[in-house]
Amino acid sequence: MTKDVSVRNLTFNTLEHVLNNKAYSNLAINQVLNQYDLSVRDKSLFTELVYGTLKRKLTLEYHLKPFLKTKVKRWVRILLWMSIYQLYYLDKIPAHAVINEAVEIAKRHGGHHQSKIVNGILRTMTRTGLSSLEDIKDDNKRLSVTYSVPLWIVKHWVTHHGFATTERIAQAMLENPGQTVRVNTAKTTVERVSKLLNERGFQVKLDQDIPECLHVVGGSIIQEPVFTDGLVSIQDKSSMFVARYLDLENDNRVLDTCSAPGGKACHIAELLNHTGKVTATDIHEHKINLIEHNIAKLGLDNIDALQHDATQSYQGTYDRILVDAPCSGLGVLRHKPEIKYEQSQVRINTLVDLQLEILNNVKSHLKPGGKLVYSTCTIEQLENENVIYTFLKQNKDFEFDPIEDPRTHQKVKTLQILPQDFNSDGFFITRIRRKDS
Ligand SMILES: C[S@@+](CC[C@H](N)C(=O)[O-])C[C@H]1O[C@@H](n2cnc3c(N)ncnc32)[C@H](O)[C@@H]1O
Repeated sequence: MTKDVSVRNLTFNTLEHVLNNKAYSNLAINQVLNQYDLSVRDKSLFTELVYGTLKRKLTLEYHLKPFLKTKVKRWVRILLWMSIYQLYYLDKIPAHAVINEAVEIAKRHGGHHQSKIVNGILRTMTRTGLSSLEDIKDDNKRLSVTYSVPLWIVKHWVTHHGFATTERIAQAMLENPGQTVRVNTAKTTVERVSKLLNERGFQVKLDQDIPECLHVVGGSIIQEPVFTDGLVSIQDKSSMFVARYLDLENDNRVLDTCSAPGGKACHIAELLNHTGKVTATDIHEHKINLIEHNIAKLGLDNIDALQHDATQSYQGTYDRILVDAPCSGLGVLRHKPEIKYEQSQVRINTLVDLQLEILNNVKSHLKPGGKLVYSTCTIEQLENENVIYTFLKQNKDFEFDPIEDPRTHQKVKTLQILPQDFNSDGFFITRIRRKDS
């Protein structure tokens, strides 16, 4: 990155990094926030500009297209997307400031000729205005452009969830996620953490469904002692349901097969409250450090992390197994919006094969009567219901072990949480049981 620390320049560099080098937006954003000493206002503007542009990329491109008379370079397009986002989605920035900054970035990046192109396009656009999205006749296409979701994903969602629900999903995916934390109940209490956060000026609300989940408003808690001292972890509410549905009992031996960076594995260890043993594995050696870092920070004494490929045989048997499977991630678009532009049907088919391979490998490591939770952070039926029904069809010694749907309090075989349900990530959770022999 260049040394220019203007917010627009940092935004432009970060967008290029994410869109061209396939960096994760949340990690790229955190890297900049840690590297540069920005004011609170600039931090929030930077985050808003990066996420906003990524989330709305297809809409911004649709609006840009009529103004492109010749082919423009990829970086010019990125600069124009972020400028259009500021012009039409943020009301506090005057148009002349947006255009001047874009022209300056273009000049530095590509010289006078490129800056003239950028200036011309943005000035014409502000003079003539944008075309209406309502003019798009085809319903799916209109939904795709309006909410910036690739058409093939819209078609999948419409098939599985219906048009009205798909529109609510797409809308909810554009919203900013709230901040939820998981209290480390192996070390402290919800009351104590709430008090500590209140004293530091945060507003704290207890969650209605998960006792250790707190909704925290008033800024990021990343530099707060409650976080750095391991009294809380940052985790989305949907993801916290997963460990809870393992129906843990003290002294359980638990295998978490795909566990990096260890969010759910550590939650399980906390719920076991210094009893039992969690074995947390992941295929990637370098990610084991992330799990170990979390274990040490949280002060957990009943969990080990080790490298292991979940498609290969494990040693021993377990009371509980979690398969939090590698998946398309289409439920977490509020945290990682770029995912929607990178996935494909072909990739989903490969993931489905891997998900089934993992389940078929770990099944013999579950004790008779033991419980297995299969979860994903996607809302793609092929990776969710289809996988678990296929597995059960092929494995008659397993059966559904219904869980309570937190929305209806009815028992269900499979639970698909949508982002609009709890203003949280889209998640799929199901629990199966190995029949007693
Ligand atoms: C959805 S993430 C897990 C998130 C984690 N459970 C948590 O709560 O923090 C899926 C993980 O599966 C891992 N993975 C992918 N293929 C795997 C395999 N064959 N065996 C084990 N882990 C695998 C990835 O490295 C990734 O960390």
